[in-house]
Amino acid sequence: MTSWTSLDEIAAAVRACRACDLHRTRTHPVPGEGPPTARVMLVGEAPGYHEDRTGRPFVGAAGKLLDRLLERAGLRRDQVFITNIVKCRPPKNRDPRPEEIAACRPFLQAQITLLDPAIIFTLGRFALQYFFPGARIGQMHGKAVQRGARWIVPMYHPAAALYRPALAQVLEEDFAAAAELVARVLGASRADAAEQG
Ligand code: URA
Repeated sequence: MTSWTSLDEIAAAVRACRACDLHRTRTHPVPGEGPPTARVMLVGEAPGYHEDRTGRPFVGAAGKLLDRLLERAGLRRDQVFITNIVKCRPPKNRDPRPEEIAACRPFLQAQITLLDPAIIFTLGRFALQYFFPGARIGQMHGKAVQRGARWIVPMYHPAAALYRPALAQVLEEDFAAAAELVARVLGASRADAAEQG
């Protein structure tokens, strides 16, 4: 078991990680970013070219679309924690392999434990399957599922919408539909904080 006590410690461990072959071809690992107080987390698939260059998640074209989608849900990027299933770029943006996903799993697990988000948006099928093994994105997109005190909301991956305009429409609708849940959860967090003084 791991004993990381902060998101920064996890990020440092990701940067030092050599647990799978992706470390050989990466430029920068991409641990994820966002405020440690974020109530909302987004989990994508893996860094692409621009993310590998900068060490930051969702900074390319899919990231620009993601910013617009977040707005639809009543969120700004600086309010959310964004990360990926796999923290290093697979060569030529191929799908992450099962052994790479398994090697990276402790990082995401620890990020979720420490952040303890009220809502997790999964982006695309790899993130969906982390939470719901065997589930199909076509059937689950946009449906909020409660797990204990947390909501998991599966979404299509924004990158898929870049070359399939019909999916862009679905994504916009799904994020807009999540606005009510987001407002409820953020409102409840603010009320708790006010009560605690
Ligand atoms: N696609 C992802 O899944 N993650 C990123 O960080 C960028 C593109």
